[in-house]
Amino acid sequence: MEGDIERVLISEQQLAQRVDEMARDIAACYPEMDPGLVMVPILSGSIIFLADLIRLLPMKMKLGMITVSSYSGAVTESQGASLKMDLNIDIRGQHVLIIDDILDTGGTLRLVRERLRLHEPKSIRTAVLLRKPSKAPKDVVADFVGFEIADEFVVGYGLDYDGHYRNYPNIAVLKADRYTTG
Ligand code: XMP
Repeated sequence: MEGDIERVLISEQQLAQRVDEMARDIAACYPEMDPGLVMVPILSGSIIFLADLIRLLPMKMKLGMITVSSYSGAVTESQGASLKMDLNIDIRGQHVLIIDDILDTGGTLRLVRERLRLHEPKSIRTAVLLRKPSKAPKDVVADFVGFEIADEFVVGYGLDYDGHYRNYPNIAVLKADRYTTG
């Protein structure tokens, strides 16, 4: 796997430090809340971020899940977000925090927010690990953002290319020929 990496953009240590800071900001936003938050990670890219983040949060919470896909196979351009698995938990009247790996064109977050609003939660906020400001539209804003990155396809820390590299501990760019050969 290491041989496929062109360059590390964000190291494991930088990720840990920033996720810790994000957890503090999020905790400050939901003080003394009862009965707690519902975290809704967008699968599958957010799983590592989610696992690290929620273990740093002190409040009581439930975990729901929703699956959206915008990349199928060996591609690095979004093919449009589509719902693969709907929300599996009741969020009516609850505070919801959506967790996603990356805010790119905004299609995924727009779709998920519209979907969750149908369940009439008390509030919806969003935390994303990465944001590509060059593409993110004005109507899709995340409340908590880990890092802003340039417009290049990245892998690692939950993000994949053609299903691989989710377990790479850093955020990285692959060697150019790996993107084309899959
Ligand atoms: P949109 O364009 O809907 O993108 O905001 C959000 C989803 O697209 C995936 N995505 C990426 N996945 N490296 C990846 O591994 C990237 O650079 C990248 N850009 C977008 C991701 O699933 C995200 O939730």
